[in-house]
Amino acid sequence: MLRSLATRKYPDILKKLLVRDLREGGRLAIVYGPQGSGKTTLLEWVARGVYEIYGPDEVIIWRGQEDCLWADFLEMGIPVRILYLGPEPIIVDGITGEPVGLDVPIVPVETPQAVLDACHPDYVNVLYIHATDPLDFTARWLEVFKLLRYKPHGWVSLFFDEIEDLAPANAQGELWNLNKEIARMVKEFRKNLTSLYAATQNHFDLDFRVKGKFQFKIYLAGAIVPDKSRVWQKAVDALPKGWGWVEGTKFEPFCFDPLPKGPKLKVLNYAI
Ligand SMILES: Nc1ncnc2c1ncn2[C@@H]1O[C@H](COP(=O)(O)OP(=O)(O)OP(=O)(O)O)[C@@H](O)[C@H]1O
Ligand SMILES: [Mg+2]
Repeated sequence: MLRSLATRKYPDILKKLLVRDLREGGRLAIVYGPQGSGKTTLLEWVARGVYEIYGPDEVIIWRGQEDCLWADFLEMGIPVRILYLGPEPIIVDGITGEPVGLDVPIVPVETPQAVLDACHPDYVNVLYIHATDPLDFTARWLEVFKLLRYKPHGWVSLFFDEIEDLAPANAQGELWNLNKEIARMVKEFRKNLTSLYAATQNHFDLDFRVKGKFQFKIYLAGAIVPDKSRVWQKAVDALPKGWGWVEGTKFEPFCFDPLPKGPKLKVLNYAI
């Protein structure tokens, strides 16, 4: 149930994305928009909402990337834990390149199957999965997705920025098959109380089978709207920065504010 949303000024869209109702299950939402349109910021809004509203009742998993945007959560006073599958991530200052010491737990995970047990509620659990190439990246994340599907658990929300890395459009060979499996797992998320909040610049960069599974499609200013969408391209073109349209709910534009920015950090050994 949605608790205490009135206490903070949340963007209206969040109220829909943050509903937790057993009959409806997990929420699947994807954010589209060009570079700098606020996709990551909107994902951070959702993650902050989950943390503030559901705290100990929900596990938050945030995809770890080379650019450590999770540092924004530290700036917002939200505790972060780093989980890694592979070599220990080397976190450096994004400008000087000097290693930084952070007061953040950095926890090794032995196998994809151990990921959920390593996650703690009341934190943003940043998950770094080491991969040798894009195929390996998708294969390893698929293991985690399978786990989220089959293991009986409470509410989980998974934040996947730049999801085209996971399921790129026009994949060939084995990656094509893996994308199909990813789409199958995502479809099952809802009834297993897993929410997926994803972002990518262009809808055509994402595998069409995965793309088709999202119940909410959010177009930020400058986004390219697919032909068959019920949202008008003209309406999206007219949006100022910080605004968006949602497909999958009542038609209305929404706006969101910027969030505090954390220190610029980089992880050296987790680029795919
Ligand atoms: N609602 C907003 N109003 C004004 N500025 C914003 C808003 N949301 C984000 N910004 C600012 O715009 C910049 C880009 O935001 P953000 O990184 O979220 O965009 P993005 O779509 O994820 O970009 P990229 O494609 O490069 O990852 C940041 O400096 C951020 O603080
Ligand atoms: Mg971004």
